[in-house]
Amino acid sequence: MLFLTGDLHGTNDIQKLNTRRFPPKGLTREDYLLICGDFGLVWDNSKEDRNWLDWLESKPWTTLWIDGNHENFDLLADYPVTDWHGGQVQYIRPHILHLCRGGLFDIDGRKVFAFGGAESHDKKYRVPGRSYWEQELPSAAEMEKARKRLDEAGWQADIVVTHSMPQHWQAALFGEQIYAHNALTDFFDEIDSKLSFRMWFSGHYHTSRIIDPKHILLYNNIIRLTEDSFVRVYPVLGGPEAQPGELAEAY
Ligand SMILES: [Fe+2]
Repeated sequence: MLFLTGDLHGTNDIQKLNTRRFPPKGLTREDYLLICGDFGLVWDNSKEDRNWLDWLESKPWTTLWIDGNHENFDLLADYPVTDWHGGQVQYIRPHILHLCRGGLFDIDGRKVFAFGGAESHDKKYRVPGRSYWEQELPSAAEMEKARKRLDEAGWQADIVVTHSMPQHWQAALFGEQIYAHNALTDFFDEIDSKLSFRMWFSGHYHTSRIIDPKHILLYNNIIRLTEDSFVRVYPVLGGPEAQPGELAEAY
């Protein structure tokens, strides 16, 4: 099985994975939980980080994550890169894997195109090298490498997982005041129009919404993919029409 959820921010939002909220029965290491960026537990290599990584490693599933903007990219760069299921990963623990940008991974019988990164809207309050890293935005070379990978695959995937969204969706939902229009969101516009895919999941916006049947934002919700759609595992996935109370249940 393949489960997805939104940002963890280290310990800030990890409570969604406690056993009361996500009590998986019978999961194995061949079941996957994929976090759509802002993992945040490769942050300062503190005892707290290491203890929570050990806690996550003790769970019966395999955790996968893409990078968001709130990651320590200098620390992350120290982990070796290795091939895994059609893309490249970094093993943080034996069953906690960072999916590198641009991989087209075979996961639970699906082709998953994963491409992390996003621009911090709060970077003026952050300190370079301590709480902000310019690598949060992918380079032109990383995007070009991803295009080549998708060329090889005939621009076919099942699932797309990113942290930020295509620009046209981001602007339509949030305007351009908070979330910047940048080369990455333009790149995602290109992917959105050229790639054949069934569903695209993003984190970053700290809300859970079904934008349309193909584009879904995740935060403190956990979903499980089904044959051709998904089901809610925890707690309720609100749509654009959801009342505040319905969404509040997710927090
Ligand atoms: Fe976040």
